[in-house]
Parts: sequence; C-alpha cells; structure tokens
Amino acid sequence: MKIGILTSGGDCPGLNAVIRGAVLKGETRYGDTFLGYRDGWRGVIDDDWIELPRREVRGIGRVGGTILGTSRSNPFHDGADGAEIVLGQMEREGVDALIAIGGDGTLFTANRLMEAGVPVVGVPKTVDNDLDATDYTFGFNTAVEIATESLDRLRVTGDSHHRCMVAEVMGRSVGWIALHSGMAAGAHVICLPEFPLSIDEICAHVQSAFDRGRAPLVVVAEGFVPSDAPEGFVDYDLDEFGRPRFGGIASALAPLIEDRLGIESRATVLGHIQRGGEPTGYDRVLATRLGMAAIDLVHDDGIGRMVALRGTEIVDVPLTAAIDSVKQVPESRWREAEVLFG
Ligand code: F6P
Repeated sequence: MKIGILTSGGDCPGLNAVIRGAVLKGETRYGDTFLGYRDGWRGVIDDDWIELPRREVRGIGRVGGTILGTSRSNPFHDGADGAEIVLGQMEREGVDALIAIGGDGTLFTANRLMEAGVPVVGVPKTVDNDLDATDYTFGFNTAVEIATESLDRLRVTGDSHHRCMVAEVMGRSVGWIALHSGMAAGAHVICLPEFPLSIDEICAHVQSAFDRGRAPLVVVAEGFVPSDAPEGFVDYDLDEFGRPRFGGIASALAPLIEDRLGIESRATVLGHIQRGGEPTGYDRVLATRLGMAAIDLVHDDGIGRMVALRGTEIVDVPLTAAIDSVKQVPESRWREAEVLFG
C-alpha cells in the first residue's frame, strides 16, 4: 500500500518516533511505501509532500519536533469541500490511506473526512494529556520532565532570595502537567482549572510554607482562574478557532501574593520550552508503538479508528472517542495532591 502521513496541530515530542515506527513496520512487515505531507493538512491541500523511505527516518525517533512540519490548517476551512480536496490529492498520488497524527482538532477533522469516505486512521498526540480515549498521550511525559527540572531550578533561586516563585505550565483547560510536575517538584500549592482555589486559599498555603522557612513554590496551570477572581482578572486573545491563547495567569497571581502577604514574588511562564527538545525514553517507546500499531490498523480494517494506550497495551478505538470529551484531572487525584500543600 501507499500510505500518507501527516502531523497536524501544535508540535509535541515523539511525533518523529511515530513516523519512524510507522515507516519501519510498514516497509518491513507489509512492503508499504510512504509519503509525508508537509505542515499537516496544508501539505495535502497544496500538494506539498516528500517521499518517506526508510533512510529518511533513520535516527529521528530521538529527535524533538516533526520532520514533516505542522500547522493548524484544515481542509474544511472557509466552507471548502475538504473530502474532495483530500481524496483528489490521494488519487493523484495513488495514496491508499492516511495516518493523521494530531490532537482533538486533527482527529475531529480526520473523523469528518472518514465520514465522507476518506480512508484515514488517527494517532493521538498532545502534551496536555487531555484526550479521554487514551490513558496517556506521548509528549506529556517529556513536558512533565522539562517542567519538573525547571521547577527544581526555580526552587533553588527562590530559596536563595526567600521569595515566592509562581510558575505557569501548559495544559489548556486541564491541569495534568501542573499536577504531575508540581507533585514531582514538591510545590507548596498547585492550581488546577478543574478545582479552582480562591486567592485567599492560595495565599494561606504560601504563608504556611513561608512560616516554615521555605521559599514557597506555586505551580499554576495556564487555564486556571481563581474561584474568587474579579471580572477581567485574566483576559485572553482568541486564536483563529476562537480558543483562548493562554499565558499570563502567573503574572496576575504573583503581584497579588506579594501585595497581600508582603512576600517578594516572581512569575515565570515556562511556555513552549515544555514542547521543544528531545522526547524522553518513555515517550519514544510509546510513540514508536503507536506508529507501528497505526500501520496494523490500516491493514487490519481499522479505517476510521485511532490507536490508544490502555494500561500498558496499545488498543484501538473509534476516532470519535478522541473528540467526545476532554480528560480532566479527577477529584481523587486532586484530593491526593492537596494533602501535600502548604
Ligand atoms: O495544546 C498544546 C499546547 O501546547 C497548549 O498547552 C498551549 O496552550 C497551546 O498548545 C499553545 O499553542 P500555540 O503553539 O499555538 O501557541
């Protein structure tokens, strides 16, 4: 078979390992050939692609980013007939099936295409770990590692100056990166969008840590808003899809803490550093397994499905499972973590 691969949406450590896993298994097990579309759906729309023989994917499993490039383009943009565009391109190049590697937006588009007759399978990715259909997404572990190392560093400088350090991590509307990195670094309070603390509660934990002679570390998920936040406390621009472009909650909280408690405070936004760089060993293995399993799906009647992790096993679920609901931090995990605050 001839299989087209694309990476779409925000980049994520492990994308290259998926591509390599798919190409290696496809070539050796099934005799497949591959082409890689540049910059996600844009490459399909603009007929912009490269051939992906085995030699092109040599050594890329340990490299961050995506060798194919990515974008948030969408073949249905502006009322276009996405399926006709995609099927037309596939027919011209003799492509039998597509592997779409992406987050909820990409998988939503893939599902729409599948319903219109495009043979496509999905591989879920996001550093946010917010896809319900899979236990963990590759990229999340790397983001947590990077965030944890950064938080450890913030603790060192915070300790030297007896300051409160407020660190903002990614996650969109969920707090998985904040929860895991915050626990790993021993944060004195972790602010999750799912369980909004009030400003008073945050300050109480900060004060308690300070009173014990510690430099308080506050980890805040970018989508967090305090339960008692005044109107306009944080105000985000929207992206072209109407989703908030996060960034700034730490800078809103740090001066408040300083004003209320008189403890010198500093804000740090970790931002895209969490997405760059090499994937961890865990993410390389997970991503490679998902890429290989995606090839099996293409050959085993799995069109319209996506690969997923359940426990330690790679399984497959309908593409719709990725877009049905967001995976939030459950209350049990929150209760577990909050015992450590203050
Ligand atoms: O969804 C992944 C993510 O990294 C979010 O955590 C973050 O809010 C967003 O993407 C940033 O998007 P962009 O790369 O478009 O700035």
